[in-house]
Amino acid sequence: MLLVIEDLNLSVPTPEGPRQILRGVTLDVAEGETVGLVGESGSGKSTTARAALRLVPDGASLSGTVTTCGCSMVADDQATVRTVRSEMAAMIFQEPRAVLNPVRRIGDSATERLVHVHGVAKAQARERIASLFAEVGLDNTDRLLRAYPHQLSGGMLQRVVIAAALSISPSLLLADEATSALDVTTQAEVLALLRRLQREREMGVLFITHDLQLAAAYCDRVYVMKDGSVVDHQKASTIFVNPANPYTKALADAVPKLPDREPNVMEAQS
Ligand SMILES: Nc1ncnc2c1ncn2[C@@H]1O[C@H](COP(=O)(O)OP(=O)(O)O)[C@@H](O)[C@H]1O
Ligand SMILES: [Mg+2]
Repeated sequence: MLLVIEDLNLSVPTPEGPRQILRGVTLDVAEGETVGLVGESGSGKSTTARAALRLVPDGASLSGTVTTCGCSMVADDQATVRTVRSEMAAMIFQEPRAVLNPVRRIGDSATERLVHVHGVAKAQARERIASLFAEVGLDNTDRLLRAYPHQLSGGMLQRVVIAAALSISPSLLLADEATSALDVTTQAEVLALLRRLQREREMGVLFITHDLQLAAAYCDRVYVMKDGSVVDHQKASTIFVNPANPYTKALADAVPKLPDREPNVMEAQS
């Protein structure tokens, strides 16, 4: 298993006292598997994924176990956690603008881990990133590498951080709404790329989305979260057929269905 979270509880201090954000979350991701984590906004999806890299809010208290690529994110020392973050598991954050340094060029940010952690020569790192840029549908690579984050659209930044995450060939990819800001065509291209890399490298993916339909179509298994708890866990193939949990059923029922085509007035008249 690449990720095993068991009975994870997490609370943060607030002026009104501790606020529990995660309640007994249990989930796992195996090698080569795509696992969906679905739920409405505020249900705790991002907090769960961040906990897999011990990126928890200041002052948070935590119980349970989080084992990422064989290392405990609760008990192990900071050096081990750093190794997991830089070499084994990569996260695509929901808000690329918040994670990219606004005063650094895209090329420096995107190649940082390859150069400083993996010891890849700068020119080689740029080449690797440039080819990943092309794969996620970004062209004009030279200009892009010299650009600053504010010069790029949200969709372009999202693709930059996807390429940067994939550049270290992670065993585990935590994709937090990674394709939500992209148009459908680009989304399909990026998902196809993820799928291909996943097959080649046996990469495990935790695929976070608010879109149950996308999760059902793209993932092997799906966990459904609500109010900090996992309320359902199913094979993706059965989630629409047999939504055992009432909340999953409500989510499934909320997916808009295409109505049967009404006969056109002109056709009806002729
Ligand atoms: N650092 C924090 N301090 C206080 N509350 C937080 C913090 N981080 C997240 N939360 C709250 O925890 C809940 C879950 O957030 P999050 O994991 O981002 O949900 P999701 O990704 O499913 O939208 C939300 O209500 C959010 O406001
Ligand atoms: Mg989120």
